[in-house]
Amino acid sequence: MPVVDIHTHVYPPSFMDLLRSRSAVPYIRSFPPDTSPRLIILPGEDSPSNPSTARGRPIGPEFYDISKKIEFMGKHRIDISVISLANPWLDFLPADDAGPIAQRVNEEINELCDQYPGRLFAFGALPVSASREVIVMEIARLSEKKYIKGVVMGSSGLGRGLDDPALDPIYEALQEHQLTVFLHPHYGLPKEVFGPRASDYGHVLALALGFPLETTVAVTRMLLSGVWDRFRALSVLLAHSGGTLPFLAGRIESCVHHDNHLLDELKQGERRSIWDILKNNIYLDAVIYSQIGLKAAVDASGSNRIMFVSSNGNFLAGTDHPFFPPLESKDDEWPSVQANFNAIKDAFDGNKEAADSILGGNAIRLLKLELRAE
Ligand code: URA
Ligand code: ZN
Repeated sequence: MPVVDIHTHVYPPSFMDLLRSRSAVPYIRSFPPDTSPRLIILPGEDSPSNPSTARGRPIGPEFYDISKKIEFMGKHRIDISVISLANPWLDFLPADDAGPIAQRVNEEINELCDQYPGRLFAFGALPVSASREVIVMEIARLSEKKYIKGVVMGSSGLGRGLDDPALDPIYEALQEHQLTVFLHPHYGLPKEVFGPRASDYGHVLALALGFPLETTVAVTRMLLSGVWDRFRALSVLLAHSGGTLPFLAGRIESCVHHDNHLLDELKQGERRSIWDILKNNIYLDAVIYSQIGLKAAVDASGSNRIMFVSSNGNFLAGTDHPFFPPLESKDDEWPSVQANFNAIKDAFDGNKEAADSILGGNAIRLLKLELRAE
């Protein structure tokens, strides 16, 4: 069974040029006296009060040179990568630029895949600040592209979150073209949540907690607004094993059932439960770095044998490359990747079939990846 990495990012050449040309987040620049370029993408991470090591992250060819991705895949025995534009995708573009830039970036990503047929596929990026017509047109266009298997999206949607009814034509188009949404966090939580000393802690609070909670809130809002009641075949792949969604699913469902305000609005009897959606519409990457988190997420879909097997079917392996590189030697295997892959193997110790499904089979099935005969 081939090993597939479904969570792995890239900035294609024209997007790099765009980042280098900008002076507001997101952008790339160096901070003297240091001359090496840094990538500034997260809200507020270029604050002068941040120590220089907390201002963004170093950026090198692993972010934009596709041969580095292939090298990384070789080093970690990954057969296929499904690449996606890294955050903040095209979210920040002025409305008029978004459509043409999306086309260019998606063409470049498709061409990168074409350089390594059978080894690279991709999630396209959507021009979310453009009109709905333009977005829907781009979805239709992407569905014709040889290597594009879905779209990557942030939690802000068209700017008002993923529970925004204005997204309905977009969900409809994604469902119609059977494109999976790879939902990835970017915005985190308001900085006040992390307190006045947050910058002493580098990116830890934002990435370890802000990201997963952002995803959890976004998906819960989709659930509460009835997105999956209206789009029953919409597939969404959640980054970082669904944030904390599997862990909190019972509490979410219980709060819904005990909320007087929701009694009429959600017509409790008819709405689909989070459990139903977790089993039928939601896929989780396995980027959680420990078997405890992975097992919790698997168990969240039910602990009996049949559910256990079916919940394996919703997990896909990922690396988050080129983020989380080793801080020291660059020649060895990346500990962040080893931690993820070991968690999968350990969590399914003795059940090779389940581990193989997560490492590759599920991605091949969900994204309909065409395998090449050797
Ligand atoms: N940090 C990011 O900004 N994005 C990722 O995908 C991972 C870490
Ligand atoms: Zn990522």
